[in-house]
Order: sequence, then C-alpha cells, then structure tokens
Amino acid sequence: MKKTMEYLHQKKRDGRKITMLTCYDYPTAQLQDEAGIDVIFAGDSVGTNQLGYKRETSVTLDDIIHHLKAVRRGVEHAYLLADMPYRTYENADTALATAQMLLRNGADGVKLEGLHEEIVAHLYNQGIEVWGHLGFNPQYHEKAAVQGKTYDSARVLAESVRSLQAAGACMVVLELIPEELGKIITEQVTIPTIGIGAGRFTDGQVLIVHDMLGITPRELRHSKNYGHVGEIMLKSFQEYASEVEAGAFPNVSNVRHMKAEELSQLMR
Ligand code: KIV
Ligand code: NA
Repeated sequence: MKKTMEYLHQKKRDGRKITMLTCYDYPTAQLQDEAGIDVIFAGDSVGTNQLGYKRETSVTLDDIIHHLKAVRRGVEHAYLLADMPYRTYENADTALATAQMLLRNGADGVKLEGLHEEIVAHLYNQGIEVWGHLGFNPQYHEKAAVQGKTYDSARVLAESVRSLQAAGACMVVLELIPEELGKIITEQVTIPTIGIGAGRFTDGQVLIVHDMLGITPRELRHSKNYGHVGEIMLKSFQEYASEVEAGAFPNVSNVRHMKAEELSQLMR
C-alpha cells in the first residue's frame, strides 16, 4: 500500500504514532521502506551528515535532487518528503518552481522552515502538500538551541503552528522544543505534528538516520543509538586493510582460474 497524506492524517485521528526518518541514498531507502517507516525524508541534513558541509545553508537544490532521486528508486510504500533548501523559497514564484522541481523528481510533498504563510498558501493553492517546520530551524538559527522555553516564545510558537495550518500546511515538524509545548501544540491542531527533540506527545517522531544508526558518533539527548553502524564500518575497513596487507585477502576461494591449455599457451 502506498502511504498517502490521508493515511498520515488518519493515523493522528486514530492516535497511532507516525514514523519518519531522514534518508539520503538508495539502499537505506529500500531498508526503511521494508521496515514500514511511514515517511522517508530527503532532508537538507544531507549536507552535514552525508556531504561534509559545515551547515545546512550550503545545501543546494541540485544536492537535494541528486539524493532525492536515489531515495525515490528505493521507496515503494512510504510517503516521500523532500526539503526545500535554504534560499530556494524566498518568494512565491521561486518557492513554486522549487516545489515543482522536487515533485518532478519523486517527492510526494515538500517541507520549508519558518513562518512563511503566504508561500505555504501559494503552494497549497497549487495542490502541493506542504509541510511546515518550526522550533529550531537549522536554516535560520546559527546554533542548536531549545526554542519556546518561555511563556512568550511558547505562545508565539504555538500560534505560528496554527497559522501554518490555516495557510494550508498539511503537516508540521517541531524541532527542539520542550515536551510540554509539543503536547499543547499537538492538541491544538488537526494536522499531524512530527517531533525531533520535541518530547513524547507529538503525533510522530523523526530522527536523522546517521544519528540513530550510530554512523556519526555523537551524543544527543533527543536521539538514540539503535545501532553502532559506524563501529561496524570502521572494523570492516581495518580488517580489510590488514588482510590485504597480510596477503590473507583474496584467498583461494575468491579467485578464478584459466583452463590449463589456455594457460600453457599463454606461458609459451
Ligand atoms: O533535514 C532534516 O533532517 C530535518 C529534520 C531535522 C526534521 O529537517
Ligand atoms: Na531540514
């Protein structure tokens, strides 16, 4: 079954949690899809996690499309979301062009950061599924910091989510906010909320695949290492190098042979 926006909204109404992970490549997409992840997300975190950029602001539309196309080839059932990179939605026209490019390259919906109601409304009116993203916004905030900790900032944040919903956003990602605020916002809107570092009560959760697999070793309160893939990779590389250097790889079982008469001709 192909997971639609209607499916994701039904999950919220049923009180069933929505699962989402970032994804930047074909084999990972295949595995996430097989695992039944609801939303597979070509995020601009590809920049820092996969491309070695210092910040999300370096990610271009071409970068996202390159990875989105690979992910698309691996996704059969999940909803495929793509990020609108920094400065690719500065006005309604550029935003529409960007969104259409992402949809043409396999996205089911697009996500943008911040409170851009006019742009959301413009895309919504074109029939595009637009996701909002509030709280910590890596494209706009220099440093990762919890947002909405005070009464005033929490009120503004909750109001912003309601404004995005009113403008036509179909989903919203909430990043790095207190759990209490995540719960309040989730109860105030009919669109599903997906949290990352937003506590237990959002309608769904998203993690960065490199964090949850332990590819990039770092300690994050909001994440969890479900695997130690970085360690497995490092060990494999070290073992390969030492076996090649020791002449232990390839061994007799890894090689192919010539027929004796061909060989004797060759040696003549
Ligand atoms: O690009 C990304 O990984 C994101 C998530 C943090 C939601 O936007
Ligand atoms: Na992002």
